[in-house]
Amino acid sequence: MANQFDALLQENRSFPPSDDFRKQANVSDPDIYQKAAADREGYWAGWAKELDWEKPWDKVLEWEPPYAKWYVGGTLNASYNCLDRHLEERGDKTAIIWEGEPGEVRKFTYRQLHREVSKFANVLKSVGVVAGDRVAIYMPLIVEAAVAMLACARIGAVHSVVFGGFSAEALRDRIQDAQAKVLITATSGYRRGALVPLKKTADAAVAECPSIEKVIVAMRRSATEEADETVSMTDGRDLWYHDLMQSASDDCPPTWVDSEHMLFTLYTSGTTGKPKGIVHTTGGFLTVAYATCKWVFDLKPNDVYWCTADIGWVTGHSYVVYGPLANGATVVLYEGAPDWPKKDRFWELIEKHKVTIFYTAPTAIRAFMKWGEQLPQSRDLSSLRLLGSVGEPINPEAWIWYHKYIGNERCPIVDTWWQTETGGIMITPLPGITATKPGSATLPFPGIDAQILDEKGNAIEVGGGYLAITSPWPSMLRGIWGDPERYQQQYWSKWPGIYFTGDGAKRDEDGYFWLLGRVDDVMNVAGHRIGTMEVESALVDHQLVAEAACVGISHEIKGTAIAAFVIVKEAGRELATNDPAKFEQELKNHVAEKIGAIAKPEKILITADLPKTRSGKIMRRLLRDIAEGRALGDVTTLADPTVVASLKEKYEEEA
Ligand code: WTA
Repeated sequence: MANQFDALLQENRSFPPSDDFRKQANVSDPDIYQKAAADREGYWAGWAKELDWEKPWDKVLEWEPPYAKWYVGGTLNASYNCLDRHLEERGDKTAIIWEGEPGEVRKFTYRQLHREVSKFANVLKSVGVVAGDRVAIYMPLIVEAAVAMLACARIGAVHSVVFGGFSAEALRDRIQDAQAKVLITATSGYRRGALVPLKKTADAAVAECPSIEKVIVAMRRSATEEADETVSMTDGRDLWYHDLMQSASDDCPPTWVDSEHMLFTLYTSGTTGKPKGIVHTTGGFLTVAYATCKWVFDLKPNDVYWCTADIGWVTGHSYVVYGPLANGATVVLYEGAPDWPKKDRFWELIEKHKVTIFYTAPTAIRAFMKWGEQLPQSRDLSSLRLLGSVGEPINPEAWIWYHKYIGNERCPIVDTWWQTETGGIMITPLPGITATKPGSATLPFPGIDAQILDEKGNAIEVGGGYLAITSPWPSMLRGIWGDPERYQQQYWSKWPGIYFTGDGAKRDEDGYFWLLGRVDDVMNVAGHRIGTMEVESALVDHQLVAEAACVGISHEIKGTAIAAFVIVKEAGRELATNDPAKFEQELKNHVAEKIGAIAKPEKILITADLPKTRSGKIMRRLLRDIAEGRALGDVTTLADPTVVASLKEKYEEEA
């Protein structure tokens, strides 16, 4: 990887913005970086002023590391900013174009969306939800999911969206940790032509969640309007979304909340076995979501904007719901898979809805590359004017392909680096200003202080090290739900007062950042964060597994895939030896059951022992080398060097 990047750095190929784009861009003043840096608080206050506040703040920032408060004393409402404030000027503008996987289309104007959200906010009130309560959302990508999020925001309730692909156990853990009072789910959702039974999974989770008082269920009707009647409803606990909506009033004034009032928690993987609930608050989060959307995607009133992320991830929070709606944009939502019914579904959607801005992940781009450029070439993609990438480093080959075949060598590409914790985009080109280089996320957004530091915290001007953010920013996480110590430990203990991202990066002579991947025990599989410990715990939970170790290995499409080394218990030896394929499948299914299909290991290697240092730490680097079939490095610290030799032999046999 390093060599590949070195070659590119030398080549230093760059793509400046076209004159046309520069002339019409929302921001085209290159001095904006200096201006923002010279008065960071004034600059961020300027952005916040573009939102509507019930009461202005008294102070822009209060910073007592590692705790920040932004727009202190100000009050606002996120749903008001995404809906109400647009009604006068663009009430009849389309806010959401939704397309289900079977092909049905629903459109909502800002006025209609406002009405739905107001009604559902009243529904939430009617089941006893009050400001500060946590509401879990476990839904497919249907309009009701966005309505549910905005309705929570409207009454000051805290949403905790859980990706619909997560298992019952994963959902249960997240509900329990947040102590959610209400769960909003759906009968099912479509994925590759099949109905994913969400309600059934939710039932299994809720059975072990005493905090849940009510479950609200949206009906996912099929394209032919047939109701999915397969679900069972528990009397006194389960309520139909459509029943409640029928009798709900559409008058629900927003609850004004403090700028630092919690807007949502979103669980993400870290270096320990249990995912952590990242906490975001209202004023700062919304300000950055709004600002980055406007400048990074150059959002204009007539844009049709499509971010392909699921609302279960942070990208779905900042760049499907809050950012674009706060800007009054038209947002496309698509429920299903990119390869259903055919591998050109995305291009068909772009053509049909005349999408102008398209934001997706490198893993998808690599899959498109594999499926061939004939597919996009046979569609009319001329509506596109800007492309984005997020979630993992984009390899230069994929960047160039995206530029050539999707952007027709005309659309700027914004490769945006950020995290669940940062709430909004941190490192990115500004399409009217920045000359892009394939594979580089380029420069920190104006008002963001990102640096490359060494172990001791010395800044590295040119070269590689740890990526750090050295000043507070409005959308920074405010903590980990229920675990202040871990917040401190995880992000702020490497260097005092400085945020540690967990990523390695490198900076070139032009000051451009090149992201090199995680430096901790977090894997980025197809753009999804998964902790090695999480998968290891899931494997060890299987009755035939004694010990397990996981590493991320390179994968052509996913970027990273999971390889698991497993020590089998005596009782499992027979199965593992006689029918290894069955055994492997059983373990993979077990991981899917514990976490979700996204965490399934690509490869499972059965071993008699694991390479450990004398102090008992598993040597992951070595496992990675073995799993990827590379020459082995220095093994002198191994307690039992023969372990490696036998592992290596085993790997070579299987390969
Ligand atoms: C990785 C997703 C390189 C990175 C928004 C980060 C990236 C983790 C990029 C956060 C990018 C995200 N280039 N790497 N453009 N974007 N990452 O919390 O390792 O799901 O730490 O947030 O994804 O993942 P998360």
